[in-house]
Amino acid sequence: MSTPIAVMGAQWGDEGKGKIVDLLSKDHDLVVRYQGGNNAGHTVQIGEHTHKLHLVPSGMLSGKECVLGNGTVIEPRALLDELQALPPACDRSLLRISERAHVVLCTHALLDWAAEQGSGIGTTKKGIGPAYTSKAARFGAVRMCELANERLLAEMFTRELPRVVRELMGLADHAELQRKVAMEYPGCHDGEHLLSPAKMARYYALLGRQLTSHLANTSDIVNGTIAQGKRVLFEGAQGAMLDVDHGTYPYVTSSSTTRGGVFTGSGYNGSAGLYVLGVTKAYTTRVGAGPFPTELHDAHGDALCERGHEFGTTTGRKRRCGWLDIPALRYAHGINGFDALALMKLDVLSGMEKVRVCTGYTHKGKAASAFPATTADLEMMKPVYEDLQGWKEDITGVRSFEDLPAACRSYVERIEQLIGVPVSLVSVGPERSQTIVRASIGGERI
Ligand code: GDP
Ligand code: IMO
Ligand code: MG
Repeated sequence: MSTPIAVMGAQWGDEGKGKIVDLLSKDHDLVVRYQGGNNAGHTVQIGEHTHKLHLVPSGMLSGKECVLGNGTVIEPRALLDELQALPPACDRSLLRISERAHVVLCTHALLDWAAEQGSGIGTTKKGIGPAYTSKAARFGAVRMCELANERLLAEMFTRELPRVVRELMGLADHAELQRKVAMEYPGCHDGEHLLSPAKMARYYALLGRQLTSHLANTSDIVNGTIAQGKRVLFEGAQGAMLDVDHGTYPYVTSSSTTRGGVFTGSGYNGSAGLYVLGVTKAYTTRVGAGPFPTELHDAHGDALCERGHEFGTTTGRKRRCGWLDIPALRYAHGINGFDALALMKLDVLSGMEKVRVCTGYTHKGKAASAFPATTADLEMMKPVYEDLQGWKEDITGVRSFEDLPAACRSYVERIEQLIGVPVSLVSVGPERSQTIVRASIGGERI
């Protein structure tokens, strides 16, 4: 049996997971998303073409069988639109969706939007948090195996909608809500009561019927594929620091973005082990609110944002930028046990006089030994920087580690040393081929 590989964000998301999954998928038989929903935005650049994927696993672009596991949350309209927008040559029937995956309903998106008016976590407003809340609360939740059943949906919505609508009314202005529903979900709208259970049931059952042929017991597919000796690639969304258990809570997403999430979110039984490839940028970014110790509010931050085109794939928001945060990466490694790292966007640092790395934090003038659990403590942390020599050369055309400028190699080697994990892949541009392969990934030559 071959050990499956999990490609996992080691920072606050947007590390370049889409590029790496695309690169590795050619040698895999099955690509599996196991958590998150269309809050993700994974960019794959193949030649001149840039593809932005949200729910569809990146493996679809290379014609591989793909799975959306039980741990994902699925907005059916968004998924159907995304499937339609795929290049014509893509075989849509390759996508299998877990019957047990939960559905992101309009009520979830409305709750997310309404709650964001006050809380300011800076979510993607896709309804992800409320959908996982419904799943855990067992209230207002629909699974993919029920989505086409209009009668069942009508019963459930009749019973449960009044409570959800009351909650919405408590969070947002009624007239604004009415306008939003009428504009975004006209098929579910009911002038007087905001949402109509019968109309909603019809609307969702219609979407459900269009997805029925994709439904399957996907944990059987994952474990069966591995048992046959075939190769499985797990595609993580978000990143370790956004994990609901281990991340910078409450400024996190609502799913398990670390190693454990692979098992609970796909039903993989672990029989062949797991090789975890952590993906990190050569600097640090974050979208949305929350503590970010190495954030730069100066010309260096602007330079990183400009050169790295740091704007969110899903929401278009400007990403906050800062120097590479080693304490956060060490913490992420502690939870995930990375077998190797992919270091992305090294080209963005070219042309800088010096490059800084945060090697530790101090708290009230003393070295901090642990990564803090509270927002207040993390906000108090002062980064300790090590300055490394920059390099001027354009490295986007370099394909072997030895051909990188010496200062650039030293930067990579210093990162390896500080985190204690080998950097096996170095990415020097967004295109598939702009990758330096230093070692095999999970015994696999790329
Ligand atoms: P993901 O969410 O982890 O898949 O990452 P995103 O797609 O949201 O963001 C990564 C962005 O960086 C995308 O626009 C990629 O095309 C781009 N990218 C990936 N690797 C590199 C690289 O090595 N250099 C540069 N300049 N851009 C890269
Ligand atoms: P990919 O897969 C970066 C962030 C949001 C917000 C927080 C909670 O492209 O790396 P949510 O809508 O999930 O409830 O928002 O998480 N966030 C991401 N940031 N990349 C992502 O995905 C993200 N998905 C969610 O900005 O701070
Ligand atoms: Mg992204």
